[in-house]
Amino acid sequence: MTQIIDGKLISKQIKEELKEKSKILLNEKGITPGLALLLVGDNPASKSYVASKEKFCAELGFKSVVLRLPEDSNEEVVLSYINSWNSDSSIHGILVQLPLPKHINEANIIQSISPKKDVDGFHPESFGRLVIGLPGFIPCTPAGIAELIKRYKIETKGKHVVVVGRSNIVGKPIANLMYQKNADANSIVTICHTAAPDLRYYTKQADILIAAVGVPKIIKAEDVKEGVVIIDVGINRIDDASSEKGYRIVGDVDFDSVKEKASAITPVPGGVGLMTVAMLMLNTYKSASGEIS
Ligand code: GUN
Repeated sequence: MTQIIDGKLISKQIKEELKEKSKILLNEKGITPGLALLLVGDNPASKSYVASKEKFCAELGFKSVVLRLPEDSNEEVVLSYINSWNSDSSIHGILVQLPLPKHINEANIIQSISPKKDVDGFHPESFGRLVIGLPGFIPCTPAGIAELIKRYKIETKGKHVVVVGRSNIVGKPIANLMYQKNADANSIVTICHTAAPDLRYYTKQADILIAAVGVPKIIKAEDVKEGVVIIDVGINRIDDASSEKGYRIVGDVDFDSVKEKASAITPVPGGVGLMTVAMLMLNTYKSASGEIS
């Protein structure tokens, strides 16, 4: 029987745990975690991600400040808001929703966020800490994947983790997490990407396959071996006239066929996506409580 790795269930558990912990933080230290969210432009997916982050904050009793700026906002304006949040003691986390419009330099923006409030874990200092195994903010999607693997007690030691995709948001950080020498990782890691002449050559070797490419259903049954654990990070909108919204969400993995061969698999939706927001809240809590400073 293939195990369905239920991100909805685990994210709910994390939410309940965080509710308890933040009550204690408020009672003992008078601190309410605060998160600043910045969205530039009208990207429909980004708008919906920011709305779900704002909602999650409200459900946990966290303070949230949400700033929605027009597409043509310039870099200086964005930087000025980040600077003001950097020095605001009621704000413990700052998140700038990506992608940003082309005329704004993403690297400048990411580096302007104080590493102490970098709950997205995208600042080079956070990434460097992750690579050398120092405590720090871990990007939310990779942190969510690691949490699912841990809570489902999936063996990682000595296992071959194959990551498809080399983005700064998912591919690079999850690869770096999984080879760390600790009880939750200790894997052998391969990263593959668009230059692979034969992607299947690599994916078929995976004990744990992490697909983060952004191409709908690119991973098929014939690309994986029997018993593989599948972590599908893809959130792809495809046209669907039968749906009310006119589209539906599918992953990077052809779930129905791959499920037959996998020992465990994350569904889309209902898998990794929900974990991302939960881990953002956890990072914000850790920043507010001083667990990461
Ligand atoms: N865009 C897609 N995923 C993310 C994320 O985890 N954080 C931010 N800030 N932008 C994103």
